[in-house]
Amino acid sequence: MWMAATTSLAGKVKTLVRAAGEGIADAAALLRAGQLVAFATETVYGLGADATQAAAVRRIYKVKRRPADNPLIVHVLNQRQAEDYAVGFDDVARILARRFWPGPLTMVVGRGEKIPAEVSAGLPTMAVRCPAHKAAQRLLAALGRPIAAPSANLSGHVSPTTAADVLAELEGRIPLILDGGPCRVGVESTVIDLTVDPPVVLRPGSVTVEMIHAALRRKLGTRVEAIGTTSMSGNAVAKSPGMSKRHYAPVTPTYRYLRGEWHQVRAWLNRYRPRARVVRLSCEKSGAVGGQEVLIHLSAKGEQCARHLYKNLRTADSRGYDLILVEMPPDRGHVWTAIRDRIRRASQEWPP
Ligand code: TXA
Ligand code: MG
Repeated sequence: MWMAATTSLAGKVKTLVRAAGEGIADAAALLRAGQLVAFATETVYGLGADATQAAAVRRIYKVKRRPADNPLIVHVLNQRQAEDYAVGFDDVARILARRFWPGPLTMVVGRGEKIPAEVSAGLPTMAVRCPAHKAAQRLLAALGRPIAAPSANLSGHVSPTTAADVLAELEGRIPLILDGGPCRVGVESTVIDLTVDPPVVLRPGSVTVEMIHAALRRKLGTRVEAIGTTSMSGNAVAKSPGMSKRHYAPVTPTYRYLRGEWHQVRAWLNRYRPRARVVRLSCEKSGAVGGQEVLIHLSAKGEQCARHLYKNLRTADSRGYDLILVEMPPDRGHVWTAIRDRIRRASQEWPP
């Protein structure tokens, strides 16, 4: 049977890419059989396993080469399913679910006993999110159980935002990719920890701290903190172990610089790396480009910049340049907080 042929991890498997509309039933059957399926969500593509099967979940870590201490997100069909599998899904969680689900908000709550410890890297908590993309919704409905899914890239790499990106990362390692088109949001979901008081945003995304704050203040008067703010209690970082590491990074050495610093960067390159082939990512349209240098334009509109950020990093990474230089966009709040966070994780500070 074709499914049995795909069970060995040692031997390469054939990776099929199918239109999400046509592949749902087979994808659900693979998940039920303990296999992995990559699928589109509105943020980035996910690498899914049936969240109730410990062996299938372990397979995610193996296929992604993900460190065992980095917990996964559990995707659910709706709030009812979230409440069924989590514990401590309280009023704060309900308000946020009603306001932001389905959508790019992940909430850390207590882990129920139907979710194996492997999903959360042994933590007593679990991260839960209800994705808005139709393909993800239909897959969850067909399976009838939650799906554990990290982004569908090898650990440390840039997250995939198209089926082709997933194929480039995981070909020969998984049996099926459900192609749901390019992702609308382009950066991973906002992660908020609701097991602490006040709640803490652990990873910025397109659902911003301001939006969460507004939703909670109106109903409960609850405050929200964000990771990296000075007021934040020190142990929040340790609560999400995977997030302190370098992440979302191209293979090519990548540096970030500040707007207005480019002339200094160019002078430094001329002096120390005169022969380096350089690709520069910038929101500025200025075409001051030398012979050895290529410019990739990042949109100055936040949502578009986020949507295409990983594609642009992948493009920069795929063409054999010696250096990638990314201009840090100014902090204008909203989705720019997430964009700046991802650029920071993808790069080292210039000068080296
Ligand atoms: O948009 C997204 O969230 C995508 C799509 C596929 O849904 N998924 C995604 O998963 O970005 P991943 O594994 O790349 O990122 C999950 C993040 C990690 O930083 C992890 O540390 C955090 O969520 N996380 C998961 N479970 C947690 C928990 N129990 N406590 C704290 N942080 C947790
Ligand atoms: Mg990831």
